Amino acid sequence: MRLDVVTIFPEYLDPLNVSLVGKARASGRLDVQVHDLREWTYDRHNTVDDTPYGGGPGMVMKTGPWGDALDSALADGYERGFGRPALIVPTPSGRPFTQELAVELSERPWLIFAPARYEGIDRRVVDEYATRMPVYEVSIGDYVLAGGEAAVLVVTEAVARLLPGVLGNAESHRDDSFAPGAMANLLEGPVYTKPPLWRGRDIPDVLLSGHHGKIARWRRDQALTRTSAHRPDLIERCAPAAFDKKDREMLSILGWAPDPEGAAHGRFWRRPPAVEE
Ligand code: ADE
Repeated sequence: MRLDVVTIFPEYLDPLNVSLVGKARASGRLDVQVHDLREWTYDRHNTVDDTPYGGGPGMVMKTGPWGDALDSALADGYERGFGRPALIVPTPSGRPFTQELAVELSERPWLIFAPARYEGIDRRVVDEYATRMPVYEVSIGDYVLAGGEAAVLVVTEAVARLLPGVLGNAESHRDDSFAPGAMANLLEGPVYTKPPLWRGRDIPDVLLSGHHGKIARWRRDQALTRTSAHRPDLIERCAPAAFDKKDREMLSILGWAPDPEGAAHGRFWRRPPAVEE
């Protein structure tokens, strides 16, 4: 897979040399090209922004440098035969970045990232490239960053670990929280390793029992407990068929009950409010 990143802060992308993404680059599974947007400015001050039409606070990134930088990255990738590119524009007003979208992007041969600073990029840039390739405007969460570079790092890491041969174990993402197609999207529970006793804290007995069935059940109960506490919205949306009898017992202990009208609004479980004494 090829990744291009066009940015005014190339050094912000230095972490792409480290760890999993760095190894994927070194092994040739990932070809990463970081481009300095200011190389496509032609004035003395290397200007990449200007005041917004219609007024308002902040500055808007100009069409000229973006158009020339993206054309240059595209020409290089086409010349080297990378196939169909997709443009990824991180923005808080994009669609939520999810594991499902990470899987979709990991199946593409070539991603070009356009992280913005200031108030964003002149809209005509996205509109122009959208006539030539798929454009994904993505948000990594409901908060506002100072620029899209950190979002590029997030998306790149989530995508790179899905590439064949990048994670040691091909099975490793089957059990990911949020793996698409999972029966139920549950958060993963706690994990432990040696030593068996640390500062007076031991390991749950069941994990030392060697009883695989009991261990699997315990892990499932932990996942249900954690999901119920941190992401009740995930439980609400689980179809009844996602849970077996033991799951239902655990859900009941956690205060959940099937919602009789659930199917109508896609919320199959509800937690009746606790009765006040
Ligand atoms: N740029 C600024 N905030 C962002 C966010 N939450 N997601 C993606 N890109 C952004």
